[in-house]
Parts: sequence; C-alpha cells; structure tokens
Amino acid sequence: MDLTFTVPTLFGLEGIVARELGFLEIDGVNAYDGKVTFKGGFSEMARANIAMRSGERVLLNVGEFHAETFDELFEGTKSLPWEEFIGSDDAFPVTGYTLESKLFSLPDCQSIIKKAVVERLKKTYMTDWFKETGAKKQIRFSLVKDTAVLMLDTSGEGLHKRGYRAVSKAAPLRETLAAAIVSLSRFKNGETFLDPFCGSGTIGIEAALYATYAAPNLKRSFDAEKWSEIPASVWQAERERAIARIKPTSSDIICSDIDGEAVSIAAVNAKRAGVGGKIRFETKDVRDIRPTFEGGVIAANPPYGERLMEQKEAERLYAEFGKVYRRFKNTRAYILTSHEEFEKQFGMKADKNRKLYNGMIKCYLFQYYKNALGSKK
Ligand SMILES: C[S@@+](CC[C@H](N)C(=O)[O-])C[C@H]1O[C@@H](n2cnc3c(N)ncnc32)[C@H](O)[C@@H]1O
Repeated sequence: MDLTFTVPTLFGLEGIVARELGFLEIDGVNAYDGKVTFKGGFSEMARANIAMRSGERVLLNVGEFHAETFDELFEGTKSLPWEEFIGSDDAFPVTGYTLESKLFSLPDCQSIIKKAVVERLKKTYMTDWFKETGAKKQIRFSLVKDTAVLMLDTSGEGLHKRGYRAVSKAAPLRETLAAAIVSLSRFKNGETFLDPFCGSGTIGIEAALYATYAAPNLKRSFDAEKWSEIPASVWQAERERAIARIKPTSSDIICSDIDGEAVSIAAVNAKRAGVGGKIRFETKDVRDIRPTFEGGVIAANPPYGERLMEQKEAERLYAEFGKVYRRFKNTRAYILTSHEEFEKQFGMKADKNRKLYNGMIKCYLFQYYKNALGSKK
C-alpha cells in the first residue's frame, strides 16, 4: 500500500525526525518546515507511532489541493475519497490551522470541511444522519499559502505523551524535544550521560530509552488501533519488532537536581518508563558536581530566569555551571536555554547553537563538542 503520511515536528527538529524515520527503515522521507512526510502502508504508520522519538504525530494524508475561496475548499474536500477511510459510524471531528492564506477564519474552514465530508459520505452510506459513535477519525487540515492538505490523525494524543510522566515539577521539557537533544548529543553506548538539572527526569529517561533502543511509545495506545480497516496483527507485529530491537546498555546515566522532591518524581517517572534500573538519581546542587567521569555527555535544561527564578540568579548559576563543566575532560555539553547571553555567563562560546522551541518559548541549544578532544581548562 502506498500511502503518504505527515509528521508535524517542532521547528528545528525536521532533520532529526527524518533521520529517525530512516533508522526505522521507513522510505520516501522528505523534510519541510515544521513537518516530515513519508510513504508506506499501515505497518510503517504503526512503526512510526510506536518508535519515533521526536515527531509530534503521524497523520495520514487524504488529499491536497489549492483553495482560495470557500467554494474551492468545499469542492476540493468533497472530491477526496473519504469513504475509503471513514466508516458509517465513525466520528470525524475537524481541526486545523491556516497560515499565509486567503482563507483564514478557522471556524469557517472547519465547518466547510465538515459539510463537504458529510456530503461525500451521504452518497456512499445512503443516509443523511451520521451518529459518529464509532472510532475516532480526527480530520486535521493545514491551509498554508492557499494549499489545503487534509489528513486523518492516527496518533490521537500527541506522541510526546509517552505515558510515563504521571507527575512533574514546574516547567518540564517536552519529551520529543528531550529526545532530540539526546539525539543531537550523539550519545553512544558505553558513554556516561549526566543531566545535572533533571527536574522530572525527561532528558535522562529519553537518554535511557535511546541507549537501549527502546521504542518510547511501546506501551501507549493510538487512535488508529481502533480503526476497523487496520488488522490488530499489524500493531502486534510492530510492537514485537520494537521489543526485538531492545538491547542492553553499559552506559552510566545520571540525573541530579538540587530539589529532592524533583529527584523523587524523576525516579518514579523512570520506573514507569521501564528504565528505573538504568538511571542513577542524586539530589545535588550543580556547584557540588565533580568530574567523576571523562568523555561522555552533559545535557541540561537549566532554569531560564523567566519562569523559575530571576534573571540574575540564573546568570550566576550559569557561571558556576561553566566552572563545573570546565573541570570535566573530553565531555560534550548540550544546554537548552532561552537566555540570549548564556555563553557569556557560562564563560565559553558554543561550537554550535541551534534555535529550538520549548512550547512557545524560543530557546537555543548551545553545543560544546570540539574541545572534547582535550582538556578545556
Ligand atoms: C527547567 S527545570 C528542568 C526541567 C527538566 N528538564 C524536566 O523535563 O522536568 C530546571 C531544574 O533546575 C533545578 N535547579 C535549580 N537550581 C539548581 C542548582 N543550583 N543545582 C541543580 N539543580 C538546580 C530546578 O530544581 C529545576 O528542576
């Protein structure tokens, strides 16, 4: 089966998601601004949902057309083969967004798309009343520069909802972003990995899943599991495939935080994620960290000075963190913060810095890896 799927991504993560899909042996992958598309059938769709780390959802493309007027939107939508995907009892709510398009009123676009799909299905099912009590076939549309793309959401809840984070302290990092930071750090089996500002443990947990090749969404469910056109055996086979890929790791993964309550929460979350035994948790002020290992990775999402503490306090902390980091030998560091002058406070210019969004907050991932070949003192 040759279907096209769209994976929306956080801005800046398109290349990482494309690479992840490649690792999953998924073909026809293309990256665009804010999304990645791939080709395949229901097996690839299930695999991407279960095993992808940094993508937000998996959407099945139903069709694409140009629409500058409500008439064009209605006719374009009606011409698509909705009956191939939506059964007579299925629920099909509509949601979406428009960007740089002549049609910009979301409620109007939503109701026109809904009416057009109903119009199409009326003919197939010989009825003009849809109960919508069956499986959920959430229609998602994007209207960008007058091109409408109509899709069905196979994931349901966003893929960052792994199911392991039952509890969190303030300002937790989105799991898909934490996974991307781990991937960007090029963390390798056998290396030590430290998050000294672990909060609810997201970065360390994603690192442990990554190190063991464990699929992050193996245990959760997806909307498309209830779709009658997809046999349960497809999902079972992909879950078995994901389980078969799991490998042991010799990496030491350490999560620490000054806040003991946060550390306890992180430990509970890690256990729920199935990696409790793979992470060492410590309650520790970053200032008290000593270089107990060489090489490896320090990845962190320290307080930004916006949400959690005052700017000056954050700056003093970055300076102390910089001193601690410079005592390590050959260790790479990946630090996510929204603070524009982080490098100045940290005392080192980053080798690379990448703009990323943590929710609505524009952040930078400051990357230090070149000096990892020698001492930084
Ligand atoms: C933005 S939060 C980290 C969130 C985390 N990435 C997550 O996903 O939950 C920053 C963390 O830094 C911790 N922190 C603040 N000052 C610290 C210090 N001096 N040493 C270590 N941790 C500190 C806070 O307790 C907080 O948990």
